[in-house]
Order: sequence, then structure tokens, then C-alpha cells
Amino acid sequence: MRIFLIGFMGSGKTYWGKILSRRLEMPFYDLDTVIEAVENKSVRQIFNDEGEEHFRKKEQEALEAIIDDHEDVVVSTGGGTPCFFNNIDLMKKNGKVIWLNTSVEVLVQRLMKEKQSRPLIKNISDSELKSFIVKKMQDRRLYYEQADIALKEELVSIDSLLKQIQDA
Ligand code: S3P
Repeated sequence: MRIFLIGFMGSGKTYWGKILSRRLEMPFYDLDTVIEAVENKSVRQIFNDEGEEHFRKKEQEALEAIIDDHEDVVVSTGGGTPCFFNNIDLMKKNGKVIWLNTSVEVLVQRLMKEKQSRPLIKNISDSELKSFIVKKMQDRRLYYEQADIALKEELVSIDSLLKQIQDA
């Protein structure tokens, strides 16, 4: 089984992905980390040097490569992954997609501390961060909502998550 975690930056995809992979004894991949290894530079540098369009192509390629190479895998995607090309359809066709629907308040708290490593928000002032998140979430919700399972991250327990995956 392939499991794809989707959701906004800071929604907990990597955290939950690692826990799931341990429990299910399946390999874990963080898509951003895979792209960084392939390109040999950080996501921030890729955005800086080559631009977002290039990053999105690499992101799609990395997703396809993981799907081709693994029947059983847990993948934490980037916040934008399901919103570009046919990525959401690709994930749904090849596995179960879980959306971590974390509240805007929690996202603001988490992202405030991590702005520098995230190219999309590094130039957004603290006072504008919340409205940026609300607006971006509106644009992306349409994609996130296509997930097989939607979870309020604050309410997730690993056992309930495993059960929902089995039932989905
Ligand atoms: C992005 C989210 C990031 C990373 C890139 C773009 C986005 O991943 O892929 O900075 O478009 O939301 P995380 O969601 O893991 O921070």
C-alpha cells in the first residue's frame, strides 16, 4: 500500500509520515528531501536559483519515481504537491491520500518560527502571515479536499489513523 500525506506547510505531514512508516514497517520518503538530494541543494536554493516552475517539475518527477519504485511506502508531500499537474490524481490512483487539515491558528504558530526555510513565506511579515495562509488555503482546499481521508490534525491518534486507512 502507498500512503500519501498532503496538507499545508506546517500541517504535520512529515511528523505523521514518520510515525506511520514505523508502525506499518514501510519505507518513508519526504518529497522535499528527495528533491534536495536529486538537485543537491535546498528547496530554498532551488526556488532562488531556478524558480518555482523548475521546482514543480522536479517535484512531479520525484513523486513519479517513488511510485514507480515502491509498492509499499509512506510519502509526505510538499504543501503544493497536490495542486500542480496531475499529482493529486496520480496519488489517488496509486494509493491512499490523507489530508492533514490543521487549523489556521496552529499553522500560524508553527510557521512563524520557520519562515526562513520556506520560500513561499520568507518575505511575508509576521502580521501578514495569517491572511496569507487563509488566502492560500482557499486556493488549495479544492485539491486537498480530494483526499481519501481528511483529518483534523489536532485530533489524530495513530490508532484511529491506522483504522481509517484500513477502512478507506
Ligand atoms: C511548498 C511547501 C514546502 C516545499 C516548498 C513549497 C508549498 O513543503 O515543497 O517550499 O507550495 O506549500 P512543506 O509543506 O513540507 O513545507
